[in-house]
Amino acid sequence: MCGIVAYIGYKQAHPILIKGLQRLEYRGYDSAGISILNGGIKTYKTVGKVEELEKYLVDKYIDGEAGIAHTRWATHGEPNKVNAHPHFSQSKSISLIHNGIIENYAVLKEELVARGYEFESDTDTEVLVNLIEDIRINEKVLLDEAVRIALGQVVGAYAIVILSEDHPNTLIAARKGSPLVIGIGENEYYVASDATPIVEYTKNVVYLEDEEIAVLTRGQRFKITTIKNQEKTPYVQQLEWNLSELEKGGYEHFMMKEIYEQPRSIRDSMRGRLNPVTGNVSLGGIIDYEQKILAAKRIIIIACGTSWHAGLVGEYLIEDIARISVEVEYASEFRYRNPIISEEDVVIAISQSGETADTLAAIELAKSKGATILGICNVVGSSIARATHGGSYTHAGPEIGVASTKAFTAQVTVLTLLALRLAQLKGTIPKTRFMQLVQELDRLPEKVEHVLHNNGLIEEIAKKYKDVNNFLYLGRGYNFPVALEGALKLKEISYIHAEGYPAAEMKHGPIALIDENMPVVFIAPNLGIYEKVVSNIQEVKARKGIVIAIVTEGDTTVKKIADYVIEIPKTEEYLVPILASIPLQKLAYHIAVLRGCNVDMPRNLAKSVTVE
Ligand code: G6P
Repeated sequence: MCGIVAYIGYKQAHPILIKGLQRLEYRGYDSAGISILNGGIKTYKTVGKVEELEKYLVDKYIDGEAGIAHTRWATHGEPNKVNAHPHFSQSKSISLIHNGIIENYAVLKEELVARGYEFESDTDTEVLVNLIEDIRINEKVLLDEAVRIALGQVVGAYAIVILSEDHPNTLIAARKGSPLVIGIGENEYYVASDATPIVEYTKNVVYLEDEEIAVLTRGQRFKITTIKNQEKTPYVQQLEWNLSELEKGGYEHFMMKEIYEQPRSIRDSMRGRLNPVTGNVSLGGIIDYEQKILAAKRIIIIACGTSWHAGLVGEYLIEDIARISVEVEYASEFRYRNPIISEEDVVIAISQSGETADTLAAIELAKSKGATILGICNVVGSSIARATHGGSYTHAGPEIGVASTKAFTAQVTVLTLLALRLAQLKGTIPKTRFMQLVQELDRLPEKVEHVLHNNGLIEEIAKKYKDVNNFLYLGRGYNFPVALEGALKLKEISYIHAEGYPAAEMKHGPIALIDENMPVVFIAPNLGIYEKVVSNIQEVKARKGIVIAIVTEGDTTVKKIADYVIEIPKTEEYLVPILASIPLQKLAYHIAVLRGCNVDMPRNLAKSVTVE
């Protein structure tokens, strides 16, 4: 949610900043802006995507070796040039970029207005930059001290970077609740919301902690203190990513690249954790908590969006295979509904980005009640990864497309490993059967590869139904969450209204919607309660609905009734969610492309939601 990038050193800043914004664009893309320091501060802003800003800068003088830049996802004020970042202090000597929300901005603004400050924008950010200036002037303190005092008065979340005419060799960065990474080069510093803009320049990074302020002066050692003015010893980490993971690699969109990466990403999620010969399953970051989980009254999974859908699959997996009771909650509801949590509960937070504000808040709540908190995150070193007691990374690699694909299947893979490990420890499955399950999981990447090659029909279906207004997705058991995720993918990127439902619940409402214009996607593998799903398909056909069914290779029953069938290889029931999700990702992708939608950056969405 909003992307921040900043540079100070001895290179030209603007190419680094523009490229950085492009890499961060998935975080927000309604307006963008840049401030460069060269004597004075020059600022340029445009509405729309970063490419608009890039075009606008072509004939501008933007030389300078220090600068800050921002791509916005609007919270306060509509997305226009005035509300775009960076924002200035009244004297125009301080420029600031901000990600997050200052909750008490209205009160602070009133006080500043009373002291003669005038505001150009509707943003909370302009309030913060003027508060800093006001403190600096009135309390006659240095800029870093003014920042510290100002942040002490602020309620809310922020990641900020400040550029000042009076301190031309220094950037000041601070965070609370919104992520910020500092890249350390040779006599130069980079700052960004995540490591993607930094990785091509340096692998040495420091993840700023909440309530820390970094003073970054070119050619000098950097200094980190807390807002209570305690000096911190920074922990410099090495980035594991490489540049090629951040490029499209010949695909038209990141989303398609990421869909096609799934055989590899699923394999990476299992690497070193599954031994198909001995049957051993181990998740390093969870080993210390295994006994706690086995003794737990229940597991509570908290997550948002696609990660919540992965959590639902996790519920089916863990209850079915390991026989431990699981509840799955939207983090945003859990945090405000006064839930009953005890020290005997184990909470698992699932998050691709590791930065989702609601999930983080739910973790803090559960922690305060003494629960053990584990995380399943994709982004290494992210806030959620650090806030949890233990956990497992999904190792799917950077996911840039806003609609989650490979992160989802990687989350489900890790949950599958967890369910198997718990089953192994509890002895809930006979050894020979357990070995069959483990070996089938090991074969999964090959089967995913196979599913990915099945293309023609999906494109044909996309062409035929790209202009409908509604879609229904139905599944039962393990495939109910798949129906939800399939519907979410379609609405996120194509803007077609789509609903996911348990197939049997259709008759309690959605059946009223069915007519000859309504495509209904069934996830109907030849497993579990297949016959019952077939009856649900009949119910749709009886009302002239259009049936698109995901079936097991060789299926004959559904083939006779459905309008279209997309085959997936035969597998164990508990692995169908991963295989069945892939054609649904591709269907949503092709429909969105045919409708001319921006697949990687759908309107109004952001990949990392760091506000409530
Ligand atoms: C946003 C993204 C979704 C994602 C959700 C949760 O809404 O657009 O794709 O599923 O946040 O994000 P997380 O990073 O916590 O998995």
